[in-house]
Amino acid sequence: MPLTSGLSGARVLVTAASQGIGFGAARAFLEEGARVVINSSNSSRLDAAVGRLAPIGEVHGVVANLKDRTELDRLLAETRAHLGGLDTLVYVTGSPRPGVFMEQEYEDWARAAELLVVSPAYLARRAAETMLAQRTGGRMVFLTSVAIREPIPTIATSNVCRIAIAGLVRTLARELGPKRIRVNGILPGYIATDRVHEVLADAARRKGTTPEAERTALVQQIPLGRIGTPEELARAVLFLGSELSSYVSGAMLPVDGAILRSVG
Ligand SMILES: NC(=O)c1ccc[n+]([C@@H]2O[C@H](COP(=O)([O-])OP(=O)(O)OC[C@H]3O[C@@H](n4cnc5c(N)ncnc54)[C@H](OP(=O)(O)O)[C@@H]3O)[C@@H](O)[C@H]2O)c1
Repeated sequence: MPLTSGLSGARVLVTAASQGIGFGAARAFLEEGARVVINSSNSSRLDAAVGRLAPIGEVHGVVANLKDRTELDRLLAETRAHLGGLDTLVYVTGSPRPGVFMEQEYEDWARAAELLVVSPAYLARRAAETMLAQRTGGRMVFLTSVAIREPIPTIATSNVCRIAIAGLVRTLARELGPKRIRVNGILPGYIATDRVHEVLADAARRKGTTPEAERTALVQQIPLGRIGTPEELARAVLFLGSELSSYVSGAMLPVDGAILRSVG
């Protein structure tokens, strides 16, 4: 098989993509010739993102709040209307409120579970229906976090809820594999987006330091000696979201500069 992504003309949905990791992934698919729908919850930010991506290729924006069931239904329906089907789903999402475990109330857990457990499972179900009806297989890539392997104290709800993605990926890979739908996950470490700035600012507030001091301390923990870029993460998404990974399904791939210490 030639070492190309084969994504020219592929129909791709990237959620939570007005900026950051999702935006970087969408741009990478467009550069490979895919036709792309990007989503976010804020129409002006999404319009701006579509405007930046439009010179590269065919891109459409669909505003939808990933926490809302009817909006998820509409997101899939509008994606099909724009692209005529779906070959690759890339699931990125927003972040729950940060905080250590003892700061989290019942409502925080409920909101985090809705965002990080229910929403990806429901969207996967809807995307799978579309892919099954096409009978041409498909690919799903779910973004989660290294925090599911090694919990990060100040994002307690993420540590707990994002682990559901690992169960979702393995469950779907087993159930949908016979229909040639491959399902994989990615565990980003620290990728240079607004979210990382927020995490560093939050850590600085808690410890009475500065974001710069927190960044220096963080980088010292990363064996590759730096925070990753959205472009570097996007290459892993392209691999799992294309036929370059044709015999990979049910995998959880860290893209983390080797910050994870644990084995397995
Ligand atoms: N950056 C990292 O190092 C890192 C590492 C591990 C995990 N993560 C996680 O990966 C995800 C993406 O991270 P990022 O760094 O790209 O964050 P980011 O720069 O803050 O971008 C978040 C994106 O999510 C969208 N969004 C937020 N809430 C949404 C909702 N309810 N419905 C639809 N879209 C929504 C935002 O768009 P609108 O505001 O326009 O809706 C935005 O496009 C986050 O869940 C983050 O916690 C990030």
